[in-house]
Amino acid sequence: ETPIWFLRQAGRHIPEYFKIRKKEANFIKFCLNEELIIESTQLPLKYYDLDAAIIFSDILMIPWAMNRNVQFTKNHGPSMKPMIPGETKILKNICIVSKLEPLKNSITYLRNSLPKSTGLIGFAGAPWTLACYMIEGKGSKDFINTRKALWSSHKWFMELIETLIIYIADILEMQAKAGADILMIFDSWSHMIPNSFFNKCAIRPTARIVDILRSRNISLPVIGFPFKAGASIEKYSFESKVDCVALDWSVDLNWAIMNLNKDIAIQGNLDPASLIPSQSIYLRKSVNNILDIMKDKRFIFNVGHGLTPDCKIDNVKEVIKIVKKYNGKI
Ligand code: CP3
Repeated sequence: ETPIWFLRQAGRHIPEYFKIRKKEANFIKFCLNEELIIESTQLPLKYYDLDAAIIFSDILMIPWAMNRNVQFTKNHGPSMKPMIPGETKILKNICIVSKLEPLKNSITYLRNSLPKSTGLIGFAGAPWTLACYMIEGKGSKDFINTRKALWSSHKWFMELIETLIIYIADILEMQAKAGADILMIFDSWSHMIPNSFFNKCAIRPTARIVDILRSRNISLPVIGFPFKAGASIEKYSFESKVDCVALDWSVDLNWAIMNLNKDIAIQGNLDPASLIPSQSIYLRKSVNNILDIMKDKRFIFNVGHGLTPDCKIDNVKEVIKIVKKYNGKI
């Protein structure tokens, strides 16, 4: 049976989300409020027959806990105090886990209240992606300052990556111990890494995080998401030590089953934009095509990136129906 859930399923495409969201204007405070975390995590399960819930939080809660002055301003996305490459203090030894206690408590509550058959996913951003936001101080189309720092302050840059590895492992360990069933690492900006540094900035840091988790007796499956990393996904699948690789919508699944590590599962990769138009004759075809290619493989049906705020609830329902029906057929 092919399980199904959606990246960013808990967000703004469900109008009821805004009712919950209104209860706390400050998004950081929202992510630190147990009641609101729980309500937002459960919301998509009220609308859809999903096999997993993803805990409501944000990858930027780690930089927030590292005192980077993270802010979410309406219509401007996230911002924070940019790090100066080479700055000597590199933010070590902060107890970020204790600052994210509400995340822990919400996971424990949700694991005890969700049906046994619903998986609960904990997550974190990957070191490279967090470094991108921390150096740039905001989102960017090319993360040029981050890439510049990689070349000009290399030793410092790798020390930042190393520091982030530890914080990420700590936060994932905390989520595992609190009751998460699966862990996911989002490398949303992995396509910004110069190819010659892909190993050093994406694969090895991910493998180190998995190694640290295993050394702490956490055996949960880990999903890695090297977003838009193209042909580098092949090496990532063999060497990053993840148990499942999530694919973006540009990846040819026939290429993936031929070339990626056959010992790990695949998650993906419907284009989230296919869920925006109210009628697309290609939606059903595309979902069935994915299911046909991935039949008999260890596969989790998902979108190839987060659901957008304008995606239609009926389309999401339609996709779930097709997948469930297909499951019954085989
Ligand atoms: O299903 C879910 O939405 C679960 C919770 C979740 C959020 N962010 C909540 C959120 C998850 C899994 C994330 C991950 C995340 N956050 C990523 C990795 C996935 C990806 O999209 O590539 C990244 C890069 C971020 C950083 C971030 N957070 C950005 C760029 C923004 C603003 C624009 C955007 O994409 O929404 C956020 C804010 C944010 N995180 C919102 C939500 C629901 C919207 C804020 C609001 O409601 O005001």
